[in-house]
Amino acid sequence: MAIGIGIVGTGLVAELHMPAIAAVEGVRAVAVADIAADRAKDFAARYNLPAHYADLRSFLADPQIDAVIVGTPNRYHTEVAIEAAAMGKHILCEKPITHDLVSGAHIIEACAKAGGQLHIGFNQRYANTVTAARNIIQSGLIGEIKSFRSVFSEKWDEWVDIDNFRYDRKLSGGDGSYNPSYRPDQIHAEPGFHRGLRHASTQCDACTVG
Ligand SMILES: NC(=O)c1ccc[n+]([C@@H]2O[C@H](COP(=O)([O-])OP(=O)(O)OC[C@H]3O[C@@H](n4cnc5c(N)ncnc54)[C@H](O)[C@@H]3O)[C@@H](O)[C@H]2O)c1
Repeated sequence: MAIGIGIVGTGLVAELHMPAIAAVEGVRAVAVADIAADRAKDFAARYNLPAHYADLRSFLADPQIDAVIVGTPNRYHTEVAIEAAAMGKHILCEKPITHDLVSGAHIIEACAKAGGQLHIGFNQRYANTVTAARNIIQSGLIGEIKSFRSVFSEKWDEWVDIDNFRYDRKLSGGDGSYNPSYRPDQIHAEPGFHRGLRHASTQCDACTVG
């Protein structure tokens, strides 16, 4: 039987997940939730999903859902992920794990206690360039890594709307928890470097978990 996926949030990232879900054998999108009921309804209609919700508890009580994709603004990942874990769901939480270090630790703890899977949506981890860099490091070719510099270019003019959560520190967590959270994750597989990041005790460190 196919694994039932439920998505919370119907924004950009939910739109990106839908074709990916459709391309994977053995999984099926079964429900969507959004605090904006009309957005959830529209999304469900467009993707032919059997159920849509505006209320998180009703969504999580849906027995068709085995795993939840958390695709809300960062600030709300904590509540959604912790409640989903408590309801026995597996979780793919979008990056960054949430908007601050303590809340991120709470998510990790709740998922560990519930026993389900927790994965953070660091898709860049699997990019060809990152994989190539990781392979070179792991081969020992360039010795011990003391520091690295990473450049990522993104079209932020797509988000000209000043109301976008990315510009709101309370919703996004600030610069240190949005796209910069990718950088330490990209080097995650290299143990020496990872220890260094842990020592720095940055928020990005929590984001590497998963
Ligand atoms: N991995 C990637 O490449 C990637 C790309 C884009 C976004 N993201 C991440 O995905 C998340 C969402 O980003 P986005 O661009 O899709 O945002 P968005 O603003 O486009 O959409 C967010 C949606 O969540 C809904 N929402 C807000 N609060 C909610 C709540 N408490 N409960 C339920 N629904 C709620 C909004 O109504 C909206 O429909 C962020 O964490 C972001 O960092 C990851």
